Amino acid sequence: MKIGGKHIRSVWLEPDGWAVGIIDQTLLPHRFATLRLESLDDAAHAIRSMQTRGAPLIGAVAAFGMALATHEDASDEGLERAYTTLLATRPTAINLKWALDEMMAVVRNRPREDRVVAAYARAQAIADEDAEMSKAIGRHGLKLIEAIHVGKKLGEPVNILTHCNAGWLATVDHGTATAPIYAAHDRGIPVHVWVDETRPRNQGAALTAFELGQHGVPHTLIPDNTGGHLMQHQMVDLAIVGADRVTAQGDACNKIGTYLKALAARDNGVPFYVAMPSSTIDFTVRDGVAEIPIEQRGPEEVSHMSGLTSDGRIETISVVPEGTPVANYGFDVTPARLVTGLITERGVLTPTRAAIAAAFPERVDAKRKVS
Ligand code: MRU
Repeated sequence: MKIGGKHIRSVWLEPDGWAVGIIDQTLLPHRFATLRLESLDDAAHAIRSMQTRGAPLIGAVAAFGMALATHEDASDEGLERAYTTLLATRPTAINLKWALDEMMAVVRNRPREDRVVAAYARAQAIADEDAEMSKAIGRHGLKLIEAIHVGKKLGEPVNILTHCNAGWLATVDHGTATAPIYAAHDRGIPVHVWVDETRPRNQGAALTAFELGQHGVPHTLIPDNTGGHLMQHQMVDLAIVGADRVTAQGDACNKIGTYLKALAARDNGVPFYVAMPSSTIDFTVRDGVAEIPIEQRGPEEVSHMSGLTSDGRIETISVVPEGTPVANYGFDVTPARLVTGLITERGVLTPTRAAIAAAFPERVDAKRKVS
């Protein structure tokens, strides 16, 4: 990822070799500030408060959180406490549980004195692997954009709609939905991104617009309700979104509002792709609509909005009559039948049980061993 033209990841080990650095995403796009996490509680707070967010990044930060926890208490009880604390921070993104299970598998059966080193090594590897998976998603997704580009008039951009932030700010690097976009842009293919603002937390307006701007990718911010109209007027060539959990049969859970975009895409013949690393697949879940827990967040995210005032202050204001009852579901599930393909690190898959299992047989085998 580029900030001011410089390459930076969204989570890193500090030069002292034990504290963990993250970008404070609650301040973007108006301020760029980093945070130093020094304890299990710091890591849990960062995930819970969404200073760090996005399914793959939550997993990587949780892995580092387990490493930090081994400094404090490397006993079996200490590890269990760290696992339970981090797992409870956010319920929907399965990358969190995946990363915590990976960490436990590496640390649990070692002598106590070896646990710190093993935990840091695995956390760093999880972060590196995530960046590699995102890069591979970019390579595979690029082919989809190239195929549309060849049918266009010279200089005419490929118009891509995305929802929420599934960019490098949501992963360790490159992003999932944005990885193919960056790959196409870097290759000189003209692309233009329709960025859903993504109420209530505005991850599209605040984060996706920020990172596309930093990378120099042409984009236009739109209110969340605009996508259907654009699709009816052939102004969207394809939609690419991320995911917080994809089921064994290809249902995709992502930021609230994704499902409506998929319905509009189907009605208008627009290809609708979900980009995600294999750490986002939950092989224990079959029917996403019935089985995936949907996070419900505080009402103030809907009733209030924050922004920059003309004199440079960040202010929060209410936008509803006082006392208005509010519902704030964080995610929804798009059934596999509405998904054109899953862009993974191992290629673009049809969203079926057979295709997903064939692409990731080792994950299916691991699940069989556990159950
Ligand atoms: O609530 P958030 O901001 O963590 O939700 C993020 C999303 O829904 C992303 O689209 C998803 O995590 C995919 S990230 C590559």
